[in-house]
Formats: sequence, C-alpha cells, structure tokens
Amino acid sequence: MLSGVLLLSVLTVTSLTPAETESRKTSSSKEICKTRCSCEERENLLNINCENKGFTTVTLFQAPPNKISQLFLNGNFLSRLGANEFVNYGNVTSLHLGNNGLQEIRTGAFNGLRFLKRLHLNNNNLEVIKEDSFSGLESLEYLQADYNYISAIEPGAFSRLNKLKVLILNDNLLLSLPPNIFRFVLLTHLDLRGNRLKNLPFAGVLEHIGGIMEIQLEENPWNCTCDLIPLKSWLDTITVFVGDIVCETPFRLHGKDITQLIKQDLCPRRNAGERVHPPSDSHFQGVLPPTYLPGMITPTRAPKASRPPKMRYRPTPRISKDKHVFGPIMVYQTRSPVPMLCPSVCVCTSQNPDSGLNINCQERKLHNISELNPKPSYPKKLHLTGNYLQVIYRTDLAEYSSLELLHLGNNRIAVIQEGAFENLTNLRRLYLNGNYIESLSQSLFFGLQSLQYLYLEYNIIKDILPQTFNALHNLQLLFLNNNLLSRSLTMFSVAPC
Ligand SMILES: *[C@@H]1O[C@H](CO)[C@@H](O)[C@H](O)[C@H]1NC(C)=O
Ligand SMILES: *[C@@H]1O[C@H](CO)[C@@H](O)[C@H](O)[C@H]1NC(C)=O
Ligand SMILES: *[C@@H]1O[C@H](CO)[C@@H](O)[C@H](O)[C@H]1NC(C)=O
Ligand SMILES: *[C@@H]1O[C@H](CO)[C@@H](O)[C@H](O)[C@H]1NC(C)=O
Repeated sequence: MLSGVLLLSVLTVTSLTPAETESRKTSSSKEICKTRCSCEERENLLNINCENKGFTTVTLFQAPPNKISQLFLNGNFLSRLGANEFVNYGNVTSLHLGNNGLQEIRTGAFNGLRFLKRLHLNNNNLEVIKEDSFSGLESLEYLQADYNYISAIEPGAFSRLNKLKVLILNDNLLLSLPPNIFRFVLLTHLDLRGNRLKNLPFAGVLEHIGGIMEIQLEENPWNCTCDLIPLKSWLDTITVFVGDIVCETPFRLHGKDITQLIKQDLCPRRNAGERVHPPSDSHFQGVLPPTYLPGMITPTRAPKASRPPKMRYRPTPRISKDKHVFGPIMVYQTRSPVPMLCPSVCVCTSQNPDSGLNINCQERKLHNISELNPKPSYPKKLHLTGNYLQVIYRTDLAEYSSLELLHLGNNRIAVIQEGAFENLTNLRRLYLNGNYIESLSQSLFFGLQSLQYLYLEYNIIKDILPQTFNALHNLQLLFLNNNLLSRSLTMFSVAPC
C-alpha cells in the first residue's frame, strides 16, 4: 500500500506528454548527475548513485557522455522496462536493478548497452526469461537474477550472450532447464540453488558446461531415480566445487547425498528384492494406516544417510582454494569480507562476502539451539537437521534475524514457544519436517513475512487452527503430507499473489 502511494506521487512529478518525452530523449535529456543522482568518479570509473530515488523510468535523463560508468538503480519502481529504456546510457558497464518490483522486460529494453558487462536483476518479480529479454547485451559477462519467481527460461534466452561466464539464478522456481540453453555460452560459474529442479540431463544441458569452475545445485528436490545417473556420472568426472545434492524423492533415498550413493541405489535392478521396496515406501505415497499412533512415527521418518554428510571426499579441486575465493563471483563483489564467527561444533562456509554464512550443524547431537557458541556473524542458512532438539525457545533465534533458511528437520521438536520465529523477517525457507509437532496455530508463524516454503511433513499434526497461515503473505509451497489430519491432505500449493 505504502509503495503504491509513493508510486503515485512519483508519477505526478515525472509524467510528461509523449511528445515531450520524445523531444527530451532525442535532444535535451537532462544529465542525470546534475539533476537527480549523486555521482563520483574513481579511477576513471564514474559511479552514478540513483538508489531509492523513486524512478519509474530513466528515459528522460542521460548519463554523462564519454564516461565509463556503473549505474546503481536499486530500490526504485522500475517495474516495467520499455524498449530503449537505457539508450542514453551507452557507456554503462554495470547496471544494478535489484529491488525494483521488476515484472517485465519488454523487447529491446537493453538496446544500446553494447558495453554492459554486469547486469543485476536480483530480488524482483520476474517470472520468465524470454528469448529476447537480453537482446543487445553482446558484452555481458555476469548476469544475476536470484530471488525472483522465474519458472521458465525460453530456449534461446542466452544464445546471443557469447561472453557470459557467470549466471546466478538461485532462489527461483525453475522446474527444469530448456534443452541447449548453454550451447552458445561458456559458463564458469552457475548457481541454481533453491529451485524446483528434479533432474539435469546430460544431453542438452550438462554436455555444454564442461568448462565450469563452480556449480551450485543445493536445495533442489532431486528425484534420485535411474534418470539421475547421468548427473551423478557427470559429477564424478568434474573436479570442481559442487554443493551438496540431496535426494528428495523417492522416499527410500530421502535425505541422502547422491555423491555417497552408488548407481545401484539410484537404479536398482528389477528383482533385487526387499532392498528396493522397503515397506516405508507405501507410507510416502499414500494415506496413513488407520491404526497409526504417534509412537509409530520414528520408523516412517526419512532414513538417515548411511554416512553423515559432514566432510565430503572429493578429488582435489583443479583450482586452489585461494583462487576459488577470488574467482569471478568474488571479483564482482564490492564490499570487503565480513569477519567470520562460527559456532564451534559446526562447519561454516561463505560463498562470497555479501552472501553471509552457511552454517552446517547437522547431526551434532545438539539438545538446545542455545548451545551454539560463539554466535555466528551474519548467518544466512542454518542447518540443524538430525539433532535432538525438543523445544524451540523464544530466545533461541534472537540473534538470527538475517537467516534466509532454517532447517530443523528430523529432530524431536514438540514445543515451539510463542514468538520463537517472530524476528526472522528475512526467512524464506523453514523446514520442520520429521518432528513431533501436534498442532499449528497463528502465533507460531508470526513475523515470517518473507517465508516462501514451509515444510511440515512427517509430524503428528492433528489440528490446524484458523488463521494459522495468515502472517505468511509470501507463502508459495506448503508441505503437510504424512500427518494425522483427519482428512487426507497430501501436498498442495498456494499461488504467489
Ligand atoms: C562512450 O565513450 C566513448 C569514449 O569515451 C565515446 O567516444 C562515446 O561517444 C561514448 N558513447 C556514448 C553513448 O556516450
Ligand atoms: C521421479 O522419477 C520417476 C521415474 O522417472 C517418476 O516415475 C516419478 O514420478 C518422479 N517423481 C517425482 C516426485 O517427480
Ligand atoms: C535450553 O535453553 C533454554 C533457553 O536458552 C534454557 O532455559 C534451558 O534450560 C536449556 N535446556 C538445557 C537442557 O540445557
Ligand atoms: C525481536 O526484536 C525485538 C526488537 O528488536 C525485541 O524486543 C524482541 O525481544 C525480539 N524477539 C525475539 C523473540 O527475539
């Protein structure tokens, strides 16, 4: 509502008749540094700082000519980019369009940006990358479109971006990649974490990314069947950094890391007998048996990985650790690294200085979240899977407000104190599956305004009180299968608004 009000006032200030717009564009567009934004030159590079200025378009202005520049337009209201939006900005090499509520990139929006190397479109509302979304960006090396709602990429979308090296698409809704999407690009870094990918085929996808130096595939619902063998084989041949790839389905492999499985696990031979079809498979597919009691929960929970996914044994990376840290993704970051504090029982990693810490405390026999000391600095993802947590105390997460992912799956949680999650306003994914939660009420999820995915499967939920999910304005997927609800509820989804 507030942004709607702001938007209106901006429109009244800047709207001009079409004739006026045209004349300004061609002859006398105002120099943006003199009128609206603060600009500073450093080492022959002009930074044009137009963040949070209420822009709905920038066509009425122009960048200082003859100056190589970076244009910062984060936090404006550029929700639709029309054709030729940036023709007056021909010497911009880096364009920042994050947090604009951007929904639509019209054909030719980036016309004239022949020298653009970096394009940042993170935290917007894009749903599709079209064939012509990026036409004209022949110099583009780095494309960042994380935290959008992208569920589809048209097949030719990157085929003219022959210089593209870094592609960041994590935290979108991609179900698959179209064939030959990378045929004409030579990617070195690809981030696909947090999508809805179940498989990546060799033909048409993996075969074209042989030169990759870093690929991130975590937090996708991998379907570990025979069809995943090409991906597993490909991972065995590459010697570069890869995040954990954990099976979501079928049930007998739920939670297992594919690098710790053998091909036979993925693709059992037909008459291999019991090993192939343990009785628990039927629970996953269907409704609970009528005599189901809370005490029977344990055996139906996801089987633990045969080896805990702690340290992974991978061949020595082709590039050294240091080189990896300063690889292309790092080079493009501008802030200096944050000092890293990591709870002593956990392992912490950081993809880059801006992205915060990924804290892995899986299967550490923890009884209480308050045992985590020292408190991590700028935590982004916290994995507490497979511990002995029983109660989530109100104070447990007070210092974790920067979290985007919290994994509390496969613990013994029966009590979550009121307000325990209230300050997790940035949280997008919450895993509470495989616990002993009996009922859900409104106060439980209070404050989780950014939450998109909520996993509550494999609990003993009998009651869901009215308005339980009211605070979850951004919820997209909710998993409630395998609980004790009186009518059989399997998985359903809520369309984003
Ligand atoms: C970009 O800069 C070059 C050299 O400084 C200059 O010749 C050219 O006209 C500029 N182009 C635009 C569109 O400003
Ligand atoms: C996983 O793949 C198998 C075999 O291709 C298919 O039958 C099954 O439906 C898939 N499961 C999911 C959850 O997509
Ligand atoms: C767990 O933490 C809570 C709050 O920090 C504390 O009150 C409680 O005594 C702790 N329980 C154990 C078993 O350490
Ligand atoms: C949440 O933040 C507010 C304001 O910073 C603070 O007063 C409150 O105690 C916090 N709640 C929790 C559960 O940490």
